[in-house]
Amino acid sequence: MAKIKVAKTAGFCFGVDRAVKLVYSEIEKGNKNVATLGPIIHNADVVSDLKSKGVRIVDSVSELKNGETAVIRSHGVGREIYTQLEEKGNPYIDATCPFVARIHKIVREKTNEGYFILIAGDKNHPEVQGIVGHCDENCFVFKDEFDLKEFFSKKYKKTEKKLAIVAQTTYNILIWGECIKVVPHDDENILVFDTICNATSQRQSDAALLSKEVDAMVVVGGKNSSNTIKLYNVCCENCPSYHIENASELYRLDLNNADKIGITAGASTPAYIIKEVQNTMEEIFDFEKELEQSFKKVHTGERVKGYIAAVNNSEAIVDIGTKHTGYVPLAELTDDQTKKPADVVSVGDEVDLIVTKINDQEGIVMLSKKKVDELLGFDNITKAKEEETVLDGTVISVVKGGILVSVDGVRVFVPASQTGLGRDKSLDELLKKNVQLKVIEVNESRRRAVGSIKAVTKAQKEAAKAAFWESAEEGKTYKGEVKSLTSYGAFVDLGGIDGMVHISELSWSRIKHPNQVVKPGDILEVYIKELDKEAGRISLGYKKAEDNPWVKFEADYKVGDVVKATIVSITPFGAFAKIIEGVDGLIHISQIADKRVDNVNEVLSVGQEVDVKITEIDLDAKRISISIRALLENTADAEETDAE
Ligand code: F3S
Repeated sequence: MAKIKVAKTAGFCFGVDRAVKLVYSEIEKGNKNVATLGPIIHNADVVSDLKSKGVRIVDSVSELKNGETAVIRSHGVGREIYTQLEEKGNPYIDATCPFVARIHKIVREKTNEGYFILIAGDKNHPEVQGIVGHCDENCFVFKDEFDLKEFFSKKYKKTEKKLAIVAQTTYNILIWGECIKVVPHDDENILVFDTICNATSQRQSDAALLSKEVDAMVVVGGKNSSNTIKLYNVCCENCPSYHIENASELYRLDLNNADKIGITAGASTPAYIIKEVQNTMEEIFDFEKELEQSFKKVHTGERVKGYIAAVNNSEAIVDIGTKHTGYVPLAELTDDQTKKPADVVSVGDEVDLIVTKINDQEGIVMLSKKKVDELLGFDNITKAKEEETVLDGTVISVVKGGILVSVDGVRVFVPASQTGLGRDKSLDELLKKNVQLKVIEVNESRRRAVGSIKAVTKAQKEAAKAAFWESAEEGKTYKGEVKSLTSYGAFVDLGGIDGMVHISELSWSRIKHPNQVVKPGDILEVYIKELDKEAGRISLGYKKAEDNPWVKFEADYKVGDVVKATIVSITPFGAFAKIIEGVDGLIHISQIADKRVDNVNEVLSVGQEVDVKITEIDLDAKRISISIRALLENTADAEETDAE
């Protein structure tokens, strides 16, 4: 809608306002015999209102009825009119504007002082005729600088008088400026009185200012009002302008192409008429806007703004400012299948949409928010590629050769090789998961983007590695996952870095393979035994001191103790027997029985439980000697003693 602005000063000036009020107050006093000498102002509406209240308009004093109160209007009159009124005996109200009366005084005084009077103005205007009427035929009226130039070239010398120059109060200030240039400056016999009313000049300069900032001006005032005509001329210099008397004329004006319209008004235009013009203009534009909106066409593919009018479980209903009802189905609101329309938009939201389908007959328009999001999102995708930014997205589907990830409404294809999933894994595992990716390829013309999740995890791993080496030190403990096993140890992932736990470090017991203690996927608490930052090698420890069976053994056992032990292995020179978990003792072949044994297997077998006596402990060498024979000898000694 066009913007409408009213000039700072527009309408009734002080003099006109005073004159009109004087007439109305006379009527209010009950005087029914009032006549104005000419229309009180050049405004048909005010004049007709006064007429309806019984106020007559007469052209001359002779037309006045006996006793009728005459009103001299703001323009003022010549001296002979006052004389006529006095002679006829009619009472009168002098509504001459004080600024006009000042000009009367100047010209009278200067005439008496022997000056010749020059009057800038329109000789047919009542105000100028009134001024002339105070000059005793001692004057010349000029309309512009050309008239004045001619006066100086042809008539000035003949007057052989000093000159006093005045101007009609509503004289055009621009022309007045040109006239002043024509006046000889160094002639002290020439006096110039700037009698242009400030109200007029102010109104004109405000109108000039406003007309420069708008596309069209509407000047309101009587068709005969000279100050309105001058205002109109001032405005015409800056933009297309229209002179109207009241709001009813607005409908014929061509203001369609104007975005900003200014209003000004002549001195005789009452405030209520200006207001009426302003209001009517606003109504016209409102109506035109509504009309234009209701006929506004939309096209498939067009981008429009809309307001969410309602939301249900399957769609959002949108007002796009036309006669159509707009619908955005859920699938066109978002790619995220977990969301409902209310999760995406709310009633009252302003949204950017793209028209996807129009049904004029049913007055329905189908729209898509997702497509706009895609357009905007694609700019972000392009930027992210340039800046190598990590983007967040949701995996929306598994397609041939990879997955599609929705990032800010844009579908980014991630090839299977870039998902970071092992070949044995199914891509379905990623469905609906939130992932981070880097854009590795963009085709702007086809609006396609390729991303890589692996690039992010790789970068994250490298960052984790750097952080690990930064803080790693011997003795520091970590929780890590067993990644793989070999015959000599287990590899443990410490968060991007693999360390190895040697088989001897996996258990205090003697084991043949790490799988006797751990398996891939187990989480172990390990500590760094040895660190070689340069070679990037880490040896990990897993056994804990508090679990050391030798410490327990030392605390609980001594030489001479008789214990139960389980045969765990047999060798040609004896058998190893487990005393406690992690501590085995050796029964030398000579200590198996109280007679000679040639083959250990003939006497003992693995898993057999035997009573043994601890005969020697070497903690440093972690060697324990145990003996069955010692017990047998003890028994034989005891039996011999009993027999004696
Ligand atoms: Fe008086 Fe100035 Fe108005 S001279 S009538 S106040 S324009």
